[in-house]
Formats: sequence, C-alpha cells, structure tokens
Amino acid sequence: MMSAQTKKRVLSGMRSTGKLHLGNFVGALDNWVRMQDQYECFFFIADWHALTTDYADTSQVKQNSIEVLLDWLAAGLDPDRCTIFIQSHVPQHAELHLLFSMVTPLGWLERVPTYKEQRDNIKDKDLGTYGFLGYPVLQSADILIYKGDFVPVGEDQVPHVELTREIARRFNLFYNLQGAPVFPEPQPLLTPAAKLPGTDGRKMSKSYGNTILLTDPEPVVRQKLKTMVTDPARVRRTDAGNPDVCPVGDLHKTFSDGDTIAKVDAGCRSAGIGCIECKSWAADALVQILQPMQDRRKKYEDNPRLAWDILEAGSARARTVANETMQEVRAAMKMSLEFDAPGNAQGAK
Ligand code: TRP
Ligand code: SF4
Repeated sequence: MMSAQTKKRVLSGMRSTGKLHLGNFVGALDNWVRMQDQYECFFFIADWHALTTDYADTSQVKQNSIEVLLDWLAAGLDPDRCTIFIQSHVPQHAELHLLFSMVTPLGWLERVPTYKEQRDNIKDKDLGTYGFLGYPVLQSADILIYKGDFVPVGEDQVPHVELTREIARRFNLFYNLQGAPVFPEPQPLLTPAAKLPGTDGRKMSKSYGNTILLTDPEPVVRQKLKTMVTDPARVRRTDAGNPDVCPVGDLHKTFSDGDTIAKVDAGCRSAGIGCIECKSWAADALVQILQPMQDRRKKYEDNPRLAWDILEAGSARARTVANETMQEVRAAMKMSLEFDAPGNAQGAK
C-alpha cells in the first residue's frame, strides 16, 4: 500500500440502473477493472443521481444499487485494490454540492448538452426540477471531493468533467488556503471502446430493450443472438455479406479471438458460412466471458450481506477522505467548525 501515495487518483461512478449489460461492461466496467493496479481508484454507485430522474418512485433504487454492486464484483472490481462505495453513505458529497451551487452560474448548467437533450427526450417524467438541472454540480462534487486526477468516462460525460474543471477553477479563485488552491482540475480519461450494438443493431441501451445482461444465462444469450439483426444485404444463405456493417460482426470484433474474426470475415464475404453458424460462434465468445463473472457473482447472490459489507467498508474509507477535503473547503471559506475567539474570527490560520 506504500505506493498508493504516488499513484494518480481515479474516480468514477455509475447510476443505480439495476443489472448491467455488455455495453456497460465494454464501455466502462472492463476498463475500470484494468485500472485497479495502475491508479488509486474510487468507484461509486451514484444512487442520488438516480433520484434526479426517478424521484417519484424510489422503491427500486436500493435494489438497483445492489444489482450494480454485484455486477461490479462479478466483473472483477476487487475491494482490496480499489474503494467501492455508495454516494448516499457519504453525505459530504451533499455538503460540497451545496457550496458549489452557490458559485455555479445558471448559464453553465443550461448549456450542458445532456440537460436539454434529456429534458426533451424523456417525456414520461417531469425533469423541470432544481435537482435535475443541478445534476452536473453534484457530479462535480463527487469528483472534486476526492481530488481525482482522472475520471474515466464515455464521450457523453466529457462536458460534465469540463464543467467540473470550471467549478474547481471558480472555487479556487474565490477561496484558497493561504494562496494554495484547494482543488486540482481533473481530466477525463476517454474509454477507448467503440459503442457496442444491441440485438436490434442500435447502441446497446437499457431504454431500447436490446441488451444482453451480464447475468443472462447461456440459453438466454444464445436465444438473443438468434434473433439479432444482421447485414440487411444478406437475405438468403447464398448472398454474400459484410461483417463491417453487421452488428454480429461488431460483437465478434469485440469479443472473439483473431482466428474466429478471420473465419467470419472470409466466410461472410464469400457466403461460405451462414448467419446461424456465425451467431453461434459469437454466442460462444460471449458465454466464455460471462460464465466466469456469473460464477463469481454467485457467491454474493447467495450471501448478499458479504457484498453489503464491502460497500459499507468502502463508504467508511470514502468518508474519511471526503472529510479531509471538507475541512480544507471550510477553512478556505473561513467557515471552519473550530472555535475562533471573538474578534479573531478573520484571524490568520
Ligand atoms: N453522470 C454519470 C453517468 O450518468 C454518473 C456519475 C455520477 C459519475 N457522478 C459521477 C461519473 C462522477 C463519473 C464521476 O454515467
Ligand atoms: Fe453478420 Fe455473420 Fe451473417 Fe456476416 S455471417 S451477416 S457477420 S451474422
């Protein structure tokens, strides 16, 4: 643990969305698992963020958080090598969010691309709330309270990290510790993976109902592959196809070994193989990745207390770090909790 001091710090979070799918794995989780030794990592379940859209019915939020947790552990996040925690157990995030909200101009929030987009797209919920507008301020607090150096995120989240940098800069401008800035400016770490197509060929996403879950058992995976869309030009078995425009081809490129990818490429273009065969190979590759995760998940499914204990221990560790930052924040704002003698309130620290 000696080297923890010298390692750069990584922080990232996921909303409590329930069971994760392969798109979440390729787009984030797999990347996180590989970062554990290179960085000092903090990964958290953003259950308060889930409330920004699900505030009217909170009955599933906790269960959704637990499903995310189990999938993280299944995928190989290791509590001995990273800190796994849940936002609502570290109330310091809320305190920093409040203080940030004082210095964040409204215009910055109205300009965030996801704000207008989601407000217009999500029709079944009223997102005209204070909390929804302030979502990126909460995210900034999540990141800055750990003084994260890097934030691994997908492209859609980059504007949020940019805003985090702006809030850090503005806070540091108003408040400092004897001239020293309180917050660093964190950098986004773009996840390299391309977008994974779902079974209908569109981006894999829970809202499209086209996902393959990390928890799908083998027969379900095979069934979902069977009905997956292919290159539309390949109508008959004798038509040649093009794996570069086929979502099943994309799955192969992400999950299959080099030999299989070559076999698919040649066989598809020459009509030497059929789609049914090709899909069964893709299913083989998926099962090979999912099976070890599902084996690891089983231990926690049988004894969810084990997973909860991990989350609580991680949250306690996160609170310690968050508290240290909040002490600096309060001191920089001349609002430390310590007693100051009367007349000495502005006193030199
Ligand atoms: N907004 C992120 C998402 O929707 C989740 C999130 C919340 C997050 N807080 C964060 C990501 C802090 C990175 C850092 O995916
Ligand atoms: Fe897609 Fe494979 Fe069929 Fe080619 S053979 S169209 S890559 S499913």
